[in-house]
Amino acid sequence: MINLVLFGPPGAGKGTQAAFLSRAYKLIHLSTGDILREEIAADTPIGQTAKDIICRGELVPDSMVIDLIQEKLDKNPRANGFLFDGFPRTVPQAEALDTLLIHYGRSVSAMLSLEVEKEELIARLMNRGTTSGRDDDSNHSIIENRIEIYNQKTAPLISYYRNAGKYESINGTGTIEEITSRLKALIEKLPQDRKSR
Ligand code: AP5
Ligand code: MG
Repeated sequence: MINLVLFGPPGAGKGTQAAFLSRAYKLIHLSTGDILREEIAADTPIGQTAKDIICRGELVPDSMVIDLIQEKLDKNPRANGFLFDGFPRTVPQAEALDTLLIHYGRSVSAMLSLEVEKEELIARLMNRGTTSGRDDDSNHSIIENRIEIYNQKTAPLISYYRNAGKYESINGTGTIEEITSRLKALIEKLPQDRKSR
């Protein structure tokens, strides 16, 4: 069993790499951004609340994403493991995830942090904005705001996981295949006791 937090700023490549890693290790991929976009598309009450917040590049309330993750964990009690993408994003979310996983006799095996320079992040997101249809990719100032909020509210999670002995840093620049190989090498080297729950 293995439970991974794929971490990094907007545009770091979390979604791209999650697709390969979830297949390779048979993990359930849980992206809170994807789940929220599905709620918006289905025009649910959650989607209606999240829509404007996401458009501004801000974070939705912790309780909203924690409840969505809890629902997914409840639905998959026999999963081989989970790959969290874009969650947790604040210290209270990380604490809630730890508590939820304890309930299922699981724990986070590692937090894999993709490191990419700001200029590259902006270039990737501006480029995707030409085709993605995502409102939050549509202009430079919203992208800057997302990165700023990452620095203020999400980057402190690096210390949270470092203190737990679970922080692993990965160079997120290069070809997609190179980065997948770096991630896999790291996952395969994780000590067995961190992969057992
Ligand atoms: P979310 O959907 O999580 O977006 P994000 O983290 O801001 O960033 P992305 O998903 O855009 O980037 P990514 O790291 O997945 O990169 P990707 O692989 O796509 O969240 C959206 C919003 O939802 C948030 O702003 C917030 O409002 C809300 N939200 C979500 N979770 C929340 C939470 N837990 N709490 C509160 N609010 C929450 O790659 C980006 C681009 O780069 C792609 O075009 C890709 O093709 C390209 N690319 C990837 N790898 C490479 C490479 N190696 N070289 C060149 N290009 C590359
Ligand atoms: Mg993503």
